[in-house]
Amino acid sequence: MMKFEVDAGKCIKCGLCATDCPFGIITPPDGENPPGVVAERAAYCIKCGHCQAVCPTGASSLGYDGVSLSKYTTDKLFVDPRQLANHMRLRRSVRKYKEEPVSKELLEELLDTARYAPSGTNRQPVGWIITYGHYKVHKLAEAVINWMASEMNKDSYYAKVLPIAAFVRAWEKGIDTIFHHAPHVITAYAHKDNHIAGVDCAIALTWLDLLMPSHGIGVCWAGLFELAMMHDPEMRKMLGVPEDHVTKGTLIFGYPKFKYNQIPGRNLAKIIWNED
Ligand SMILES: Cc1cc2nc3c(=O)[nH]c(=O)nc-3n(C[C@H](O)[C@H](O)[C@H](O)COP(=O)(O)O)c2cc1C
Ligand code: SF4
Ligand code: SF4
Repeated sequence: MMKFEVDAGKCIKCGLCATDCPFGIITPPDGENPPGVVAERAAYCIKCGHCQAVCPTGASSLGYDGVSLSKYTTDKLFVDPRQLANHMRLRRSVRKYKEEPVSKELLEELLDTARYAPSGTNRQPVGWIITYGHYKVHKLAEAVINWMASEMNKDSYYAKVLPIAAFVRAWEKGIDTIFHHAPHVITAYAHKDNHIAGVDCAIALTWLDLLMPSHGIGVCWAGLFELAMMHDPEMRKMLGVPEDHVTKGTLIFGYPKFKYNQIPGRNLAKIIWNED
């Protein structure tokens, strides 16, 4: 059960918590009233903590402990363990982007590092497809929406377990819930017969998910896109996936509109010590 609370004394009524919630659960501040919760949407809360992380004054909380950035080191000349931990805890899924593109030179530099990611028996099976620019990204998102609409018509499994009717409705209003209007999409692909390559691709994508924010780039995984790719061969053609290859994960990215100021709470690690 979500428990969004606002300390009215600290709240400056900027509305960022409402703007950044991926499910529109928070109502924006209204005059003297601080932000609140849309009761009928509260069940969609995934406890991502974005409403807490984006708050510039630390006014909002979710009922489990987040961490103020000031508890972490900010002096930086080289990567030390505390800085790395800080960087990893601070990365958030970015769903609001500026128009400004990320340069191809920088992307090539990042992929030149990602090729050092570990892979099963060092087979290095990961290939990349970069969808670069708003028009192409828009066309891909539209193809996902078309796939969703056809699932709705079939009353399929996905139509029952995902709010795809809401995604289609949002698209009709000009809101892209697939790629969040990001300027770029990067997809990892591998040969269809390499069954461990899904892990290798996930690792390489995770490296990018950490490397990109160190250059000020915001990233978000695109699971809904991957779902459509798994089921619709036409989409694989449209993306240009080479023959006999399949996609194994996709990120959207671009320069973020907001910066995150707090680290939201997460469940404690589940650890089993299997000792002598
Ligand atoms: C495999 C995977 C698929 C995801 N797919 C989507 C997606 O389709 N759309 C989206 O907005 N966020 C997606 N996310 C982002 C998660 O919602 C997000 O990681 C989670 O809420 C935690 O928030 P944080 O990344 O800011 O810590 C995905 C994350 C993962 C790991
Ligand atoms: S935790 Fe995430 S999904 Fe839940 S209200 Fe906050 S921003 Fe929205
Ligand atoms: S982000 Fe923080 S300061 Fe801004 S409206 Fe929300 S609770 Fe208030």
